[in-house]
Amino acid sequence: MNGQSGPHAHAIYPGSFDPPTNGHLDVIERAAKVFSLVTVAVVVNPQKSNPLFTLDEREKMLRTITAAHPNVKVAHFRGLLADFVKSLDADVIVKGLRVVSDFENEMAFAHMNRSLSAVDTMFLMSDSSYSFVSSSLIKEVFLQGGDVSKYVPAAVLKVMKSKRQAQGRK
Ligand code: PNS
Repeated sequence: MNGQSGPHAHAIYPGSFDPPTNGHLDVIERAAKVFSLVTVAVVVNPQKSNPLFTLDEREKMLRTITAAHPNVKVAHFRGLLADFVKSLDADVIVKGLRVVSDFENEMAFAHMNRSLSAVDTMFLMSDSSYSFVSSSLIKEVFLQGGDVSKYVPAAVLKVMKSKRQAQGRK
């Protein structure tokens, strides 16, 4: 599908999704209205830290919360995002921007990915109600016993609770 534009384009939405949040889901749903196919691409080994959720758990949570959208697929990748985009012959990378500091990091990523694979990155502004929602903050609040039900889909909260139980916390 490479080279397509507009409604026929295939977009890749990459991330760690450890766990997926309502902010991620909002970007996925909005991208699914613009692009004919959105592949949510879970990075196998996030650089930031050891993931709390296994790759399988992260993919399953994403499949569950995007089940209502037939043009959303979930996949995973190792190594460079640019190589993965090329391997799928996809048209564009989609990212969400919450705050200005996101833009500074994402601009460098976008330039590097375009330099590596000639693929463009398109940005959606995150809904303002999710501007402070990140997977790492959600994990920190949740693991200290805080209520994160406003920030993650119900199916994700369920998996988070099982994970906390499995770790011997209440
Ligand atoms: O949800 P995250 O952790 O912000 O997602 C970051 C991600 C996965 C999009 C980024 O780390 C990435 O693209 N990793 C793959 C390795 C790669 O291509 N690195 C160079 C980026 S220009």
